[in-house]
Amino acid sequence: MLYGADYNPDQWPEEVWDDDVRLMQEAGVNIVSLGIFAWSRIQPAEDVWDFAWLDTVIEKLHAGGIAVNLATATASPPPWVSARYPETLPADESGASYWPGSRQHFAPSSPTYRRLAGELVRRLGERYAHHPAVVMWHVGNEFGCHLWMDFSDAARDAYRDWLEKRYTTVTALNDAWGTSFWSQRYGEFDEIFPPRLAPYSHNPSSMLDWRRFTSDMLLECYLMEREILLEAGATQPITTNFMGPFKPADYRRWAPFMDVIADDCYPDPANPHRVRDAAFQRDLIRSLKPGVPWLLWEQATDAVNWRPANPGKLPGALVAETAQSIARGADGIMFFQWRQSRAGSEKFHSAMLPHAGTATRTWDAVTELGARLAALPQLPAPGRDAQVALVFDWENWWAVEERDHPTEVDYLALVLEWYGAFHARNIQVDIVGPEEVDDTYRLVVAPALYLLRDDGAAALARFVHDGGTLLTGPFSDIVDEHDHFRQGGFLTQLGPVLGLRFEDFGALAGASEGAAGVGALSADAVLAARRAAAEGTVTFSLDGAVYRSRLVAEHVHATDADVVAAFDSGPHAGSPALTRHRHGSGEAWYVASVPVSGGPAIGSAGDALGAVVATVVAASGVRPIVEGLPAGVEAARRGDLVTLINHGDTRVEIAIDGTDAETGAAVDRVVLETQGVAFVTAPVAASPAAAPAPASVSAATLSAATVPLP
Ligand code: GLA
Repeated sequence: MLYGADYNPDQWPEEVWDDDVRLMQEAGVNIVSLGIFAWSRIQPAEDVWDFAWLDTVIEKLHAGGIAVNLATATASPPPWVSARYPETLPADESGASYWPGSRQHFAPSSPTYRRLAGELVRRLGERYAHHPAVVMWHVGNEFGCHLWMDFSDAARDAYRDWLEKRYTTVTALNDAWGTSFWSQRYGEFDEIFPPRLAPYSHNPSSMLDWRRFTSDMLLECYLMEREILLEAGATQPITTNFMGPFKPADYRRWAPFMDVIADDCYPDPANPHRVRDAAFQRDLIRSLKPGVPWLLWEQATDAVNWRPANPGKLPGALVAETAQSIARGADGIMFFQWRQSRAGSEKFHSAMLPHAGTATRTWDAVTELGARLAALPQLPAPGRDAQVALVFDWENWWAVEERDHPTEVDYLALVLEWYGAFHARNIQVDIVGPEEVDDTYRLVVAPALYLLRDDGAAALARFVHDGGTLLTGPFSDIVDEHDHFRQGGFLTQLGPVLGLRFEDFGALAGASEGAAGVGALSADAVLAARRAAAEGTVTFSLDGAVYRSRLVAEHVHATDADVVAAFDSGPHAGSPALTRHRHGSGEAWYVASVPVSGGPAIGSAGDALGAVVATVVAASGVRPIVEGLPAGVEAARRGDLVTLINHGDTRVEIAIDGTDAETGAAVDRVVLETQGVAFVTAPVAASPAAAPAPASVSAATLSAATVPLP
């Protein structure tokens, strides 16, 4: 288990470096990410290079038994770069320059930036590629973190080249962008600009390509550095730090070029869904490289500095969050940063070594954590442990959140809601692209999959045909890879699989006023429908209970599907809300609205989204990792290792047969205090999760097992 932090000795006088190494040893640190923002120290002027201090630091770390993840230091160009080469500066959408004085003030597509950064990387590579202390390379830092898009002239030129490579002819581009609309037809590539400030909506197909281009430019910077390191003889793993579900960079496209995936995660103590959201992030990161452990490359020991208010972590949360990472596949636990800065905009950010010194709660916590991690045995690689896959796709994210749609969709928030229903039931989930869906899963959930590529559609259809259970909708299978409607209406790819014909989007947002009433509704249901209409939601009935749903209430026709639930109210009252269709040897479900998650159902227990998930889970035979866990306990499986984390307010006792992975003792139960963690080796064969689903499993039994987690 790697344990350590970003180390910025360039912010400190040499006198503290020996202390740093000594204290690192005391804390159990075995690796540091060195010099991430040290460009101006290494190259104070264009023709002045200073590696002596870096040599000294690396030697000291090496002598102290601490490995180095050496940064390429390209994330913050020194002042001389910006002053001498203003063409390296990025621009906003009105063409105004971003200026130096912070960090990440470079245009990723600037040839000058790439030349200067490349030279720095080449010298670092040649000097340290064979140094025994250097065990890994850290390229750049959080690519795109602050600057989501660059509209500079460098970007304009690179965009034209990128488009020409993609389309070869301008005619092909005109077709792909549908430029007959609004007189947008281009005569040559040089007529194309980045989507700078315009009077009204940009062409959505061009926006999609612009997003692809932006992700690719950042990736090109990474790949350029990687290439230079390899040429310099580097044999160590090369990576950069991801930021979980980060919209500007399609990490699924990046992942093959990372020798190991590293991720930064800062759960917000004030976010009531922080446990769910962090679990999703870790599952996403694990799923980017199936079977390969990933590295938690940055977390905070306590408070950060960059939110409007920065409370510290709850007592025990550091251990719980660390355990969640390990449970979901991490083999490294690192922090930003080793020693708290004494100047600069991050001086209030917590660190392993606080400014207040070692007689602190934080120091105690990091040394205890270091000792606990050091005692862990070699952990199994994360396997294909999930029976459920949740489809989350960057191109769809970009397209579905474009403007001028029936309604605005917050794709990540929506995906997190669906994820939460599984997380709350301790059902393990992989996060995949549609093309990655295969028959190792039993159940696939694909919400709001508006942009569905041909190969993705084929994989989903095959999955169902071969026996899987698919749940999709609403606002899914609407456009192709160019953000064009396909010929033949909507649900053109999945309609036959779902047994549905799609007619209308039924956007809600207050449009559902007073529409209660098909068939004979109970007084409760009428009241519920009126209340829902006032809130911009509609109601549907499932298993005798009335639930609310939001965003859209689509008008779909069940050509072959069974109608499991119908809308009681809204623009399409009486039409199907939830359908089920046998296709090949599998089943495809469609939900025509967004069931309200978390809110109390009207007239029954459980939330609407949870009720739909419970129904589909029961039909698919998917089981939780551990049955019947007490409220607030999170479970995750990693090969033979089951991790249990108590996020609840009370001490719990859990029956589980296995071996305590930390002590080696056989256990048949574990006791967890609040924020307590247990690592239990419990082979899959002996685990309830792998047992065949009981024939009579029902939505009700699964609902009862629902665990409310933050
Ligand atoms: C990011 C960066 C770090 C630091 C931390 C602060 O993760 O990579 O350099 O700024 O945020 O939380």
